[in-house]
Amino acid sequence: MRGLAGKLVIATHNAGKLKEIGALLAPYGVDCISAGALGLPEPAETGKTFIDNALIKARAAAQGSGLPALADDSGLCVGALGGRPGVYTADWAERQWFEGPPGRDWYLAMGKVEGLLAQQGPDVERSAHFACVLALAWPDGESAVYEGRVSGHLTWPPRGTLGFGYDPVFVAEGHEVTFAELDPAEKHRISHRADAFAKLVAAQFGR
Ligand code: IMP
Repeated sequence: MRGLAGKLVIATHNAGKLKEIGALLAPYGVDCISAGALGLPEPAETGKTFIDNALIKARAAAQGSGLPALADDSGLCVGALGGRPGVYTADWAERQWFEGPPGRDWYLAMGKVEGLLAQQGPDVERSAHFACVLALAWPDGESAVYEGRVSGHLTWPPRGTLGFGYDPVFVAEGHEVTFAELDPAEKHRISHRADAFAKLVAAQFGR
């Protein structure tokens, strides 16, 4: 097992993600810096699985920086849709030319999922999970992946204003409110990201 103490590149250009991951790893003596701050290019996410895409991002950042790197990839998987949208979760929010100005619309994305479920009839099975894969890569080619998930079901219409993405239609197992209605601290405690991070911390820091 490799030590992770010292500098770790977070393979993201998103300042919010860097802050969140940096805070999670700070107690373990890890000093996070983003791929964006190092001027590293963002590789194309051409993988067919969350693991492929997380590894593509982590390996590119490790090779480009000469430092260990961490990347994540996440999305929503719907049972009755064969796991879709999966790695295309963000793409489903991308507006088409006839749907308005370029950009992402999460209500459009939730509507696409619901429309496909509705085609299967009123008794369609509504289970779904959010998945998160964290990939660590070292400049010599070694890597490790940690998979997290939170299971639940989809509800319609959307409810709540907290959170982001598909949160207004996702109800986690054991809860009645959607992720967009849930206290953010509780969401962060039970989320797919929390699950993946717990596995990374257990493996890398033995806690
Ligand atoms: P990425 O891993 O940053 O590419 O994110 C993939 C997409 O999955 C995001 O754009 C969100 O729409 C969706 N997603 C990931 N995690 C969550 C979550 O906790 N709540 C709602 N949507 C999420």
